[in-house]
Amino acid sequence: MSRTLDRTDQTDQAAGADRTDRPTLLGTAWHAAWNQGDVDALDELLSTSYVRRRGPAGVTQDRKEFKASISAVREAFPDLHTEIEDLVEAGDQLAVRWRSTGHHTGAFLGVPPTGRPVEVSGATFARFEGDAIAEESVTFDSRQLLEALGIITTGHTAAVDPDLVRGVHRKFITGVTVVTTDDAGTPRGLAVNAFSSISLDPPMVLVCVQRSSSTHPVLHRSTHLGINILAADQLDVAKTFASKGDNKFADLQWAPGEHGSPLIEGSSAQLEVEIGERLEAGSHTVFTGRVVSAHHADLAPLVYSGGGFFDISQTAPLPW
Ligand SMILES: Cc1cc2nc3c(=O)[nH]c(=O)nc-3n(C[C@H](O)[C@H](O)[C@H](O)COP(=O)(O)O)c2cc1C
Repeated sequence: MSRTLDRTDQTDQAAGADRTDRPTLLGTAWHAAWNQGDVDALDELLSTSYVRRRGPAGVTQDRKEFKASISAVREAFPDLHTEIEDLVEAGDQLAVRWRSTGHHTGAFLGVPPTGRPVEVSGATFARFEGDAIAEESVTFDSRQLLEALGIITTGHTAAVDPDLVRGVHRKFITGVTVVTTDDAGTPRGLAVNAFSSISLDPPMVLVCVQRSSSTHPVLHRSTHLGINILAADQLDVAKTFASKGDNKFADLQWAPGEHGSPLIEGSSAQLEVEIGERLEAGSHTVFTGRVVSAHHADLAPLVYSGGGFFDISQTAPLPW
């Protein structure tokens, strides 16, 4: 779903206005504040005790500070336009994926106007109390913004050649997982090797998923995801989930886990994760979360190295 906060949309929303329609309340106030500079429109949407948290460090702003920061951003980027790409309501929570564009024609963060076009995407998670938002947390890739303004140098202008970095990554051996989720009764998933344990107590893990993946929007709005660590004889499963397709599960034995995430039979290990943070980083979103169910079997895992797949049971263990 893609939704632009343009004038037509706003008129349509206003026509069906209903105090309990939280997406409409949010969409209308965001359009007024971010796209038209009417920050007082947020007084309707944000409770008087509103708190906004930004990034994993949880830097906080109250309602007045948040409104002042929007005005400052709009002074620096007068043509600022924010588009809501996906908006999902679950209980008293609203999850919003957004993308903002604008030209840097006023001073920002101490940087004189550069005239450069800037694009920043991120996600906001709002908790409502009645018709007003009591609390919000927001994540966006601030490096994307700082790089566009020339404050830091990364990515395209970095001294390190991307092919060189790719070559380095090919030296790192990983397993292969299929990250899954339930999309209103339909199983969805993709092959992921960017999986890592974060901590054992509490048990937390992370996966990195490219925003261009068709599974990404579904994962973004899910509360849980499944991680299937593939076994050495599941190369065909890895290939299926590394490709595009409407029904990658068609020829598979799978079943929903205790928390509803699709778990693939014959995997070496399976986890279900309650999603916590969704951190925007470069082209990917890093999903972190707490492990809520875990199983493993006596099956050798599939190994991925240097662009090829290997059966670890065929390798010689080193004494140490
Ligand atoms: C071994 C392997 C590892 C992969 N790891 C990742 C990963 O960590 N994150 C990711 O977003 N895509 C990864 N991919 C690519 C996706 O699986 C691939 O783009 C897939 O087609 C996405 O499917 P979708 O668009 O249906 O979601 C990997 C592919 C392979 C073959």
